[in-house]
Amino acid sequence: MRPVGTGAETVPVTPVDIAVERVSKSFGETRIFDDVSFRLARSEAVAIVGANGTGKSTLLRCVMGLIPATSGKVTVLGQDMASATGAETRAVRARMGLVSQKHNLVPRLSVLSNVVQGLLGQQPGLRHWSHKLAPAASRDAAMAALKKVGLADFALRRADRLSGGQSQRVAIARAIVGHPEVLIADEPCASLDPAAGEEVMELFFDLARAQNVTVVFISHHIDHALKYGDRVLGLAGGKLRLDATAASLGPTDLRGLYD
Ligand SMILES: Nc1ncnc2c1ncn2[C@@H]1O[C@H](COP(=O)(O)OP(=O)(O)OP(=O)(O)O)[C@@H](O)[C@H]1O
Ligand SMILES: [Mg+2]
Repeated sequence: MRPVGTGAETVPVTPVDIAVERVSKSFGETRIFDDVSFRLARSEAVAIVGANGTGKSTLLRCVMGLIPATSGKVTVLGQDMASATGAETRAVRARMGLVSQKHNLVPRLSVLSNVVQGLLGQQPGLRHWSHKLAPAASRDAAMAALKKVGLADFALRRADRLSGGQSQRVAIARAIVGHPEVLIADEPCASLDPAAGEEVMELFFDLARAQNVTVVFISHHIDHALKYGDRVLGLAGGKLRLDATAASLGPTDLRGLYD
């Protein structure tokens, strides 16, 4: 399969939130991927698929500015990530939310404190480590986010007393509490059973659509990629082998990526 375009031409008037241009990434001598390009417009959702070890998480980490690309250019919300100062990188990251495969909640802290910590990017400092220290406005924002994920009643429960599905919903609340413009999700339901996983995906995308957020998510579930992605990008053999609208693809088109 060949890439079918950058995607930019399909949505010429909306702003491009993420532009990845000819990006390559190596760790030492090991080339992970090469010459990857795509552009995402505001409120587009794109699924990244591909076999284990093809570099999907690495690509997301480059987009988030957590690691530098080896070559090429990553622009997020108008910021060139390679030339960004530390402060500029933090400013862009404060406009992004992240949900990962494992929720990464702080186990001994309350659910509410964990969600308050989602504001640390915007308001660094000790006051956003715990709900007890947080300003009322931040606590209110965290409660509003917990309401959206249906867990307001769990606000004061310790995070390590939650089920896997509940923990992922708290992670979603933490990701959206600061009203991000871009949401990144690295296999957000990988550790969940199918029913809980479906629930988490539905919730995640309901919230993303309601807030007009641009979403990049990795999924090993082909049905999730096709259902929730407007577009699907496929990494295989160190290249972007697929960039197509979900509507134009069927499950068999994606199977080729895993050969
Ligand atoms: N910090 C690092 N240093 C060296 N190699 C790394 C580093 N991070 C990732 N890799 C390697 O890069 C390759 C791609 O890893 P990555 O985690 O991006 O794959 P992935 O597509 O997300 O896989 P999975 O589906 O299993 O999550 C792997 O071979 C991995 O071992
Ligand atoms: Mg990964």
